[in-house]
Amino acid sequence: RSDATTDHYEITQQVAHLRILPGLETEAWTYDGSYPGPTLVSRSGRRTVVTHRNELPQPVAVHLHGGHTPHDSDGHPTDLILPVGWSRRHRYAMADTSGLARTALGERTYTYPLDQRAATLWYHDHRMGFTGPSAYRGLAGFHLVHDDEEERLPLPRGERDIPLMITDRSFTADGSFHYPAVDPEWGMPGVTHHWMEGVLGDTILVNGAPWPVLDVRRQRYRLRLLNAANSRILRLELDPQPPGGDALVQIGADGGLLERPVRHDALAMAPAERFDVVVDFARYRPGTRVRLVNRLGSGTTAEVMRFDVSGAARAPVDDTAVPDRLSTVERLDPRRAMAVRTFYFRRTAAGWTINGMPYRPGRALAAPKLGTTELWRIVSDFHHPIHVHLNPFQVVARDGGAPGRYDAGWKDTVDVLPGKSAEIAVRFTDYSGRFLFHCHNLEHEDMAMMADFVTR
Ligand code: C2O
Ligand code: CU
Ligand code: CU
Repeated sequence: RSDATTDHYEITQQVAHLRILPGLETEAWTYDGSYPGPTLVSRSGRRTVVTHRNELPQPVAVHLHGGHTPHDSDGHPTDLILPVGWSRRHRYAMADTSGLARTALGERTYTYPLDQRAATLWYHDHRMGFTGPSAYRGLAGFHLVHDDEEERLPLPRGERDIPLMITDRSFTADGSFHYPAVDPEWGMPGVTHHWMEGVLGDTILVNGAPWPVLDVRRQRYRLRLLNAANSRILRLELDPQPPGGDALVQIGADGGLLERPVRHDALAMAPAERFDVVVDFARYRPGTRVRLVNRLGSGTTAEVMRFDVSGAARAPVDDTAVPDRLSTVERLDPRRAMAVRTFYFRRTAAGWTINGMPYRPGRALAAPKLGTTELWRIVSDFHHPIHVHLNPFQVVARDGGAPGRYDAGWKDTVDVLPGKSAEIAVRFTDYSGRFLFHCHNLEHEDMAMMADFVTR
Protein backbone atom coordinates (compact mmCIF):
# COMPACT_ATOMS: atom_id res chain seq x y z
CA ARG A 1 0.00 0.00 0.00
CA SER A 2 1.29 3.47 -0.85
CA ASP A 3 0.07 7.00 -0.54
CA ALA A 4 1.62 10.38 -1.35
CA THR A 5 4.31 10.24 1.32
CA THR A 6 4.47 6.70 2.63
CA ASP A 7 4.82 3.08 1.62
CA HIS A 8 3.04 0.64 3.92
CA TYR A 9 3.84 -2.98 4.44
CA GLU A 10 2.22 -5.57 6.66
CA ILE A 11 4.17 -8.62 7.68
CA THR A 12 2.93 -11.59 9.65
CA GLN A 13 5.56 -13.50 11.53
CA GLN A 14 4.50 -17.12 11.40
CA VAL A 15 5.64 -20.69 11.54
CA ALA A 16 5.93 -22.16 8.05
CA HIS A 17 7.03 -25.46 6.62
CA LEU A 18 9.60 -24.93 3.92
CA ARG A 19 11.20 -27.20 1.37
CA ILE A 20 14.91 -26.56 1.78
CA LEU A 21 16.31 -30.07 1.53
CA PRO A 22 15.04 -32.54 -1.07
CA GLY A 23 12.14 -34.62 0.23
CA LEU A 24 12.10 -33.02 3.69
CA GLU A 25 10.21 -30.23 5.39
CA THR A 26 11.86 -27.67 7.59
CA GLU A 27 9.82 -25.90 10.21
CA ALA A 28 10.88 -22.28 10.15
CA TRP A 29 10.00 -18.99 11.81
CA THR A 30 9.27 -16.66 8.95
CA TYR A 31 8.27 -13.22 7.88
CA ASP A 32 5.13 -13.85 5.83
CA GLY A 33 5.80 -17.54 5.33
CA SER A 34 9.03 -17.29 3.35
CA TYR A 35 12.73 -17.52 4.07
CA PRO A 36 14.32 -15.08 3.51
CA GLY A 37 11.39 -12.80 4.32
CA PRO A 38 9.88 -10.62 1.58
CA THR A 39 12.32 -8.11 0.09
CA LEU A 40 11.03 -4.65 0.95
CA VAL A 41 11.88 -1.89 -1.49
CA SER A 42 11.93 1.78 -0.57
CA ARG A 43 12.81 5.09 -2.07
CA SER A 44 15.31 7.23 -0.20
CA GLY A 45 13.47 10.01 1.65
CA ARG A 46 10.08 8.30 1.40
CA ARG A 47 8.76 7.02 4.68
CA THR A 48 8.19 3.29 4.95
CA VAL A 49 5.86 1.99 7.63
CA VAL A 50 5.94 -1.70 8.45
CA THR A 51 3.42 -3.37 10.72
CA HIS A 52 4.60 -6.68 12.14
CA ARG A 53 2.08 -9.09 13.59
CA ASN A 54 3.56 -11.80 15.80
CA GLU A 55 1.89 -15.18 15.34
CA LEU A 56 5.01 -17.03 16.51
CA PRO A 57 5.12 -18.81 19.85
CA GLN A 58 7.74 -16.43 21.32
CA PRO A 59 8.33 -12.67 21.57
CA VAL A 60 10.19 -10.90 18.77
CA ALA A 61 11.83 -7.55 18.04
CA VAL A 62 12.46 -6.33 14.50
CA HIS A 63 15.59 -4.34 13.71
CA LEU A 64 16.27 -2.69 10.37
CA HIS A 65 20.01 -3.22 10.07
CA GLY A 66 21.61 -0.21 8.42
CA GLY A 67 18.49 1.88 8.83
CA HIS A 68 18.83 5.45 10.08
CA THR A 69 15.87 5.14 12.37
CA PRO A 70 14.32 6.89 15.39
CA HIS A 71 14.90 4.92 18.56
CA ASP A 72 11.30 3.86 19.06
CA SER A 73 11.36 2.06 15.68
CA ASP A 74 14.89 0.71 15.93
CA GLY A 75 13.87 -2.67 17.28
CA HIS A 76 15.86 -2.42 20.47
CA PRO A 77 16.28 -5.90 22.02
CA THR A 78 14.04 -5.03 24.94
CA ASP A 79 11.25 -3.52 22.80
CA LEU A 80 9.35 -6.72 22.23
CA ILE A 81 6.26 -7.70 20.33
CA LEU A 82 4.56 -10.39 22.40
CA PRO A 83 2.72 -13.11 20.48
CA VAL A 84 -0.89 -12.55 19.52
CA GLY A 85 -2.96 -13.88 22.39
CA TRP A 86 -0.43 -13.28 25.16
CA SER A 87 -1.20 -11.01 28.02
CA ARG A 88 0.76 -7.93 28.90
CA ARG A 89 1.19 -9.39 32.36
CA HIS A 90 3.12 -12.29 30.96
CA ARG A 91 6.53 -12.62 32.55
CA TYR A 92 8.34 -11.57 29.37
CA ALA A 93 6.80 -8.16 29.63
CA MET A 94 8.65 -7.84 32.92
CA ALA A 95 11.97 -9.25 31.77
CA ASP A 96 13.51 -5.81 31.40
CA THR A 97 13.84 -4.39 34.88
CA SER A 98 15.23 -1.07 33.65
CA GLY A 99 11.71 0.20 33.01
CA LEU A 100 12.79 1.43 29.57
CA ALA A 101 11.27 -1.33 27.48
CA ARG A 102 8.24 -0.71 25.33
CA THR A 103 6.37 -3.95 24.98
CA ALA A 104 3.71 -4.32 22.33
CA LEU A 105 1.01 -6.93 22.35
CA GLY A 106 0.45 -8.91 19.14
CA GLU A 107 1.61 -6.27 16.70
CA ARG A 108 3.72 -3.20 16.36
CA THR A 109 4.26 -0.60 13.68
CA TYR A 110 7.76 0.53 12.83
CA THR A 111 8.29 3.84 11.03
CA TYR A 112 11.37 4.24 8.87
CA PRO A 113 11.98 7.75 7.47
CA LEU A 114 14.77 6.32 5.25
CA ASP A 115 16.39 9.67 4.93
CA GLN A 116 19.56 7.98 3.78
CA ARG A 117 21.47 6.94 0.69
CA ALA A 118 20.58 4.00 -1.52
CA ALA A 119 21.87 0.88 0.21
CA THR A 120 21.30 -2.80 0.86
CA LEU A 121 19.68 -3.00 4.28
CA TRP A 122 18.30 -6.06 5.96
CA TYR A 123 15.86 -6.68 8.74
CA HIS A 124 16.17 -9.41 11.32
CA ASP A 125 15.09 -10.43 14.76
CA HIS A 126 16.81 -8.73 17.69
CA ARG A 127 15.13 -10.11 20.79
CA MET A 128 17.39 -9.87 23.81
CA GLY A 129 19.14 -13.15 24.53
CA PHE A 130 17.49 -14.90 21.56
CA THR A 131 18.68 -13.17 18.41
CA GLY A 132 20.85 -16.16 17.46
CA PRO A 133 18.14 -18.84 17.60
CA SER A 134 15.45 -16.56 16.14
CA ALA A 135 17.53 -15.52 13.13
CA TYR A 136 18.66 -19.12 12.71
CA ARG A 137 15.04 -20.25 12.49
CA GLY A 138 14.53 -17.86 9.59
CA LEU A 139 13.80 -14.33 10.78
CA ALA A 140 15.79 -12.28 8.25
CA GLY A 141 15.01 -10.44 5.01
CA PHE A 142 16.33 -7.75 2.68
CA HIS A 143 15.20 -4.15 2.60
CA LEU A 144 16.58 -2.26 -0.40
CA VAL A 145 16.71 1.51 -0.61
CA HIS A 146 17.04 3.17 -4.01
CA ASP A 147 17.79 6.78 -4.87
CA ASP A 148 18.22 9.03 -7.93
CA GLU A 149 21.99 9.11 -7.74
CA GLU A 150 22.22 5.36 -8.01
CA GLU A 151 19.56 5.18 -10.70
CA ARG A 152 21.46 7.57 -12.94
CA LEU A 153 24.41 5.17 -13.07
CA PRO A 154 24.53 2.59 -15.88
CA LEU A 155 24.75 -0.33 -13.40
CA PRO A 156 23.01 -3.66 -14.05
CA ARG A 157 19.41 -3.54 -12.84
CA GLY A 158 16.19 -5.48 -12.85
CA GLU A 159 16.79 -9.20 -13.00
CA ARG A 160 20.53 -8.58 -13.17
CA ASP A 161 20.51 -6.89 -9.74
CA ILE A 162 20.43 -9.80 -7.32
CA PRO A 163 20.45 -9.75 -3.51
CA LEU A 164 22.17 -12.87 -2.16
CA MET A 165 21.70 -13.73 1.49
CA ILE A 166 24.38 -16.19 2.50
CA THR A 167 23.96 -18.21 5.68
CA ASP A 168 24.90 -21.57 7.11
CA ARG A 169 22.60 -24.03 8.82
CA SER A 170 22.69 -27.54 10.21
CA PHE A 171 19.73 -29.86 9.93
CA THR A 172 18.56 -32.85 11.90
CA ALA A 173 17.67 -36.08 10.06
CA ASP A 174 14.00 -35.06 9.75
CA GLY A 175 14.95 -31.76 8.11
CA SER A 176 14.52 -29.43 11.10
CA PHE A 177 17.00 -26.66 11.71
CA HIS A 178 19.47 -27.84 14.28
CA TYR A 179 20.28 -25.08 16.72
CA PRO A 180 21.92 -26.09 19.99
CA ALA A 181 19.54 -26.00 22.94
CA VAL A 182 18.42 -22.66 24.27
CA ASP A 183 16.54 -22.12 27.48
CA PRO A 184 13.13 -20.79 26.34
CA GLU A 185 13.06 -18.30 29.16
CA TRP A 186 16.64 -17.17 29.55
CA GLY A 187 18.23 -17.64 26.15
CA MET A 188 21.87 -18.53 25.75
CA PRO A 189 23.42 -20.45 28.61
CA GLY A 190 26.14 -18.00 29.58
CA VAL A 191 29.83 -18.48 29.07
CA THR A 192 30.62 -21.97 28.00
CA HIS A 193 33.46 -23.24 25.97
CA HIS A 194 30.99 -24.39 23.44
CA TRP A 195 29.95 -21.00 22.21
CA MET A 196 33.37 -19.47 21.69
CA GLU A 197 33.02 -19.37 17.93
CA GLY A 198 29.26 -18.99 17.94
CA VAL A 199 26.99 -21.46 16.20
CA LEU A 200 28.22 -22.77 12.85
CA GLY A 201 26.11 -24.73 10.38
CA ASP A 202 27.45 -27.36 8.01
CA THR A 203 25.39 -26.39 4.95
CA ILE A 204 25.58 -23.09 3.11
CA LEU A 205 22.27 -21.59 2.02
CA VAL A 206 21.88 -18.76 -0.47
CA ASN A 207 18.48 -17.06 -0.27
CA GLY A 208 17.33 -20.08 1.70
CA ALA A 209 18.47 -22.75 -0.79
CA PRO A 210 21.47 -25.07 -0.48
CA TRP A 211 24.12 -24.47 -3.17
CA PRO A 212 21.76 -23.01 -5.80
CA VAL A 213 22.64 -22.65 -9.47
CA LEU A 214 21.87 -19.49 -11.42
CA ASP A 215 21.92 -19.39 -15.21
CA VAL A 216 23.58 -16.17 -16.33
CA ARG A 217 24.07 -14.53 -19.69
CA ARG A 218 27.49 -13.28 -20.70
CA GLN A 219 26.77 -9.85 -19.24
CA ARG A 220 27.37 -7.85 -16.09
CA TYR A 221 25.43 -8.72 -12.96
CA ARG A 222 25.15 -6.79 -9.74
CA LEU A 223 25.31 -9.09 -6.73
CA ARG A 224 24.34 -7.65 -3.36
CA LEU A 225 26.14 -10.03 -1.05
CA LEU A 226 25.08 -10.26 2.59
CA ASN A 227 26.69 -12.52 5.14
CA ALA A 228 23.63 -13.32 7.26
CA ALA A 229 25.26 -16.24 9.09
CA ASN A 230 25.07 -16.18 12.87
CA SER A 231 28.82 -16.40 13.25
CA ARG A 232 30.53 -17.79 10.17
CA ILE A 233 33.18 -15.65 8.51
CA LEU A 234 33.40 -16.06 4.74
CA ARG A 235 36.13 -15.55 2.22
CA LEU A 236 34.42 -15.58 -1.15
CA GLU A 237 36.03 -16.17 -4.50
CA LEU A 238 34.91 -17.12 -7.98
CA ASP A 239 36.38 -20.37 -9.26
CA PRO A 240 37.67 -20.30 -11.92
CA GLN A 241 38.83 -16.70 -11.85
CA PRO A 242 38.38 -14.91 -15.17
CA PRO A 243 41.60 -14.21 -17.11
CA GLY A 244 43.35 -11.30 -15.42
CA GLY A 245 41.58 -11.82 -12.07
CA ASP A 246 39.78 -9.00 -10.23
CA ALA A 247 36.48 -10.77 -10.81
CA LEU A 248 34.61 -9.00 -8.01
CA VAL A 249 34.26 -5.30 -8.67
CA GLN A 250 33.02 -3.77 -5.46
CA ILE A 251 30.72 -0.80 -5.99
CA GLY A 252 29.14 -0.53 -2.56
CA ALA A 253 29.51 -1.32 1.12
CA ASP A 254 27.05 -1.52 4.04
CA GLY A 255 26.07 2.15 3.68
CA GLY A 256 25.74 2.38 -0.11
CA LEU A 257 27.88 3.28 -3.10
CA LEU A 258 31.63 3.73 -2.85
CA GLU A 259 33.29 6.74 -4.40
CA ARG A 260 35.15 4.53 -6.83
CA PRO A 261 35.00 0.83 -7.59
CA VAL A 262 37.49 -1.44 -5.79
CA ARG A 263 38.55 -4.62 -7.59
CA HIS A 264 39.00 -7.83 -5.64
CA ASP A 265 39.95 -11.45 -6.28
CA ALA A 266 38.40 -12.41 -2.94
CA LEU A 267 36.03 -10.86 -0.41
CA ALA A 268 36.35 -11.29 3.34
CA MET A 269 32.90 -11.00 4.89
CA ALA A 270 32.03 -11.18 8.54
CA PRO A 271 28.45 -11.60 9.76
CA ALA A 272 26.17 -8.66 8.84
CA GLU A 273 28.56 -7.14 6.31
CA ARG A 274 27.30 -6.33 2.81
CA PHE A 275 29.41 -6.09 -0.32
CA ASP A 276 27.79 -4.85 -3.48
CA VAL A 277 29.76 -6.20 -6.43
CA VAL A 278 29.50 -6.32 -10.21
CA VAL A 279 30.65 -9.47 -11.99
CA ASP A 280 31.07 -9.46 -15.74
CA PHE A 281 30.30 -12.97 -16.97
CA ALA A 282 31.32 -11.93 -20.50
CA ARG A 283 34.85 -12.50 -19.21
CA TYR A 284 34.14 -16.23 -19.17
CA ARG A 285 33.96 -18.62 -22.11
CA PRO A 286 30.45 -19.73 -23.10
CA GLY A 287 29.28 -22.65 -21.02
CA THR A 288 31.68 -22.12 -18.08
CA ARG A 289 30.42 -23.21 -14.69
CA VAL A 290 31.62 -20.60 -12.22
CA ARG A 291 31.51 -21.62 -8.57
CA LEU A 292 31.24 -19.10 -5.78
CA VAL A 293 33.41 -20.68 -3.12
CA ASN A 294 34.21 -19.96 0.51
CA ARG A 295 37.96 -20.34 0.98
CA LEU A 296 37.56 -20.49 4.77
CA GLY A 297 35.24 -23.47 4.58
CA SER A 298 35.90 -27.10 3.85
CA GLY A 299 33.72 -29.73 2.21
CA THR A 300 30.09 -28.60 2.30
CA THR A 301 30.90 -25.18 3.74
CA ALA A 302 33.37 -24.42 0.95
CA GLU A 303 30.61 -24.39 -1.70
CA VAL A 304 28.30 -21.37 -1.84
CA MET A 305 26.57 -21.39 -5.23
CA ARG A 306 27.22 -21.71 -8.95
CA PHE A 307 26.73 -19.49 -11.97
CA ASP A 308 26.25 -21.36 -15.24
CA VAL A 309 27.34 -19.05 -18.02
CA SER A 310 25.20 -19.21 -21.17
CA GLY A 311 26.58 -21.40 -23.93
CA ALA A 312 25.67 -18.94 -26.68
CA ALA A 313 28.83 -18.13 -28.60
CA ARG A 314 27.96 -14.48 -29.09
CA ALA A 315 27.57 -12.40 -25.93
CA PRO A 316 24.38 -10.29 -25.93
CA VAL A 317 24.76 -6.52 -26.10
CA ASP A 318 25.43 -5.19 -22.62
CA ASP A 319 24.71 -1.51 -22.19
CA THR A 320 25.71 -1.48 -18.53
CA ALA A 321 29.03 -0.28 -17.16
CA VAL A 322 30.85 0.35 -13.90
CA PRO A 323 31.86 4.01 -14.02
CA ASP A 324 35.16 5.04 -12.45
CA ARG A 325 33.31 7.50 -10.34
CA LEU A 326 30.24 6.17 -8.57
CA SER A 327 29.40 8.67 -5.90
CA THR A 328 30.77 11.27 -3.53
CA VAL A 329 31.70 10.02 -0.11
CA GLU A 330 32.32 12.76 2.38
CA ARG A 331 35.32 11.95 4.57
CA LEU A 332 34.76 12.19 8.30
CA ASP A 333 37.78 13.87 9.85
CA PRO A 334 38.91 11.95 12.93
CA ARG A 335 40.91 14.97 14.14
CA ARG A 336 37.66 16.82 14.62
CA ALA A 337 36.17 14.13 16.81
CA MET A 338 34.36 15.59 19.83
CA ALA A 339 35.09 12.47 21.85
CA VAL A 340 37.52 9.60 21.59
CA ARG A 341 36.38 6.39 23.24
CA THR A 342 37.93 2.96 23.55
CA PHE A 343 35.82 -0.17 23.75
CA TYR A 344 37.35 -3.49 24.68
CA PHE A 345 35.41 -6.47 23.40
CA ARG A 346 36.52 -9.30 25.64
CA ARG A 347 35.51 -12.50 27.22
CA THR A 348 36.16 -12.14 30.94
CA ALA A 349 35.08 -13.82 34.16
CA ALA A 350 31.96 -11.63 33.89
CA GLY A 351 31.10 -13.15 30.50
CA TRP A 352 31.21 -11.64 27.03
CA THR A 353 31.74 -8.01 27.76
CA ILE A 354 32.37 -4.52 26.46
CA ASN A 355 34.79 -2.70 28.77
CA GLY A 356 34.32 -5.48 31.29
CA MET A 357 30.54 -5.17 31.41
CA PRO A 358 27.95 -7.59 30.08
CA TYR A 359 24.85 -5.93 28.64
CA ARG A 360 22.45 -4.29 31.01
CA PRO A 361 19.54 -2.35 29.54
CA GLY A 362 19.73 1.30 30.46
CA ARG A 363 23.46 1.35 31.23
CA ALA A 364 24.83 3.55 28.46
CA LEU A 365 28.55 3.37 27.69
CA ALA A 366 28.50 6.55 25.60
CA ALA A 367 26.36 9.65 25.28
CA PRO A 368 27.21 11.23 21.92
CA LYS A 369 25.88 14.66 21.11
CA LEU A 370 23.84 14.80 17.91
CA GLY A 371 25.64 16.57 15.10
CA THR A 372 29.10 15.62 16.33
CA THR A 373 31.63 13.08 15.17
CA GLU A 374 33.26 10.66 17.57
CA LEU A 375 36.24 8.41 17.18
CA TRP A 376 35.71 4.94 18.57
CA ARG A 377 38.64 2.61 19.03
CA ILE A 378 37.58 -1.01 19.13
CA VAL A 379 39.90 -3.59 20.63
CA SER A 380 39.09 -7.27 20.24
CA ASP A 381 40.28 -10.42 21.98
CA PHE A 382 38.53 -12.86 19.60
CA HIS A 383 37.06 -12.33 16.18
CA HIS A 384 34.29 -9.79 16.72
CA PRO A 385 32.33 -8.08 13.92
CA ILE A 386 31.23 -4.86 15.62
CA HIS A 387 28.01 -3.16 14.60
CA VAL A 388 26.73 0.29 15.54
CA HIS A 389 23.07 1.22 15.22
CA LEU A 390 21.70 4.59 14.02
CA ASN A 391 24.55 5.94 11.88
CA PRO A 392 27.04 4.43 9.48
CA PHE A 393 30.73 5.01 10.12
CA GLN A 394 34.07 5.06 8.35
CA VAL A 395 36.99 2.87 9.25
CA VAL A 396 39.85 5.32 9.62
CA ALA A 397 42.60 3.04 10.96
CA ARG A 398 43.51 -0.51 11.82
CA ASP A 399 46.12 -1.18 14.48
CA GLY A 400 47.17 2.42 14.23
CA GLY A 401 47.87 2.06 10.49
CA ALA A 402 45.88 2.41 7.32
CA PRO A 403 42.43 0.82 6.94
CA GLY A 404 42.21 -2.49 5.09
CA ARG A 405 41.17 -3.36 1.56
CA TYR A 406 37.63 -4.19 2.61
CA ASP A 407 37.07 -1.02 4.62
CA ALA A 408 36.12 1.39 1.83
CA GLY A 409 33.04 3.58 2.06
CA TRP A 410 30.30 3.79 4.67
CA LYS A 411 30.15 0.77 6.94
CA ASP A 412 27.90 -0.24 9.79
CA THR A 413 29.76 -3.38 10.76
CA VAL A 414 33.52 -3.71 11.07
CA ASP A 415 35.27 -7.00 11.53
CA VAL A 416 38.01 -6.84 14.14
CA LEU A 417 40.39 -9.78 14.27
CA PRO A 418 41.69 -11.44 17.44
CA GLY A 419 44.16 -9.23 19.25
CA LYS A 420 43.62 -6.38 16.79
CA SER A 421 42.02 -2.98 16.85
CA ALA A 422 40.13 -0.71 14.50
CA GLU A 423 39.28 2.96 14.70
CA ILE A 424 35.98 4.16 13.36
CA ALA A 425 34.65 7.68 12.91
CA VAL A 426 30.91 8.03 13.48
CA ARG A 427 28.80 11.14 13.13
CA PHE A 428 25.63 10.88 15.16
CA THR A 429 22.66 12.64 13.61
CA ASP A 430 18.94 13.36 13.86
CA TYR A 431 17.50 11.03 16.42
CA SER A 432 17.93 11.23 20.16
CA GLY A 433 17.42 8.25 22.39
CA ARG A 434 18.72 4.88 23.33
CA PHE A 435 20.53 2.83 20.68
CA LEU A 436 22.73 -0.21 20.63
CA PHE A 437 26.17 -1.31 19.56
CA HIS A 438 27.29 -4.89 19.78
CA CYS A 439 29.18 -7.82 18.40
CA HIS A 440 27.25 -9.26 15.45
CA ASN A 441 28.39 -12.79 16.12
CA LEU A 442 24.84 -13.53 17.25
CA GLU A 443 25.88 -15.93 19.96
CA HIS A 444 28.33 -13.41 21.43
CA GLU A 445 25.54 -10.86 21.20
CA ASP A 446 23.08 -13.14 23.00
CA MET A 447 25.69 -13.76 25.67
CA ALA A 448 25.52 -10.02 26.38
CA MET A 449 28.30 -8.53 24.24
CA MET A 450 26.20 -5.43 23.66
CA ALA A 451 25.88 -1.95 25.11
CA ASP A 452 23.53 0.98 24.86
CA PHE A 453 24.55 4.47 23.85
CA VAL A 454 22.28 7.43 24.27
CA THR A 455 22.25 10.30 21.81
CA ARG A 456 21.12 13.74 22.93
CU1 C2O B 1 22.05 -6.59 12.53
CU2 C2O B 1 21.88 -4.77 16.13
O1 C2O B 1 21.92 -5.74 14.41
CU1 CU C 1 21.73 -2.66 13.15
CU1 CU D 1 32.05 -11.40 19.09
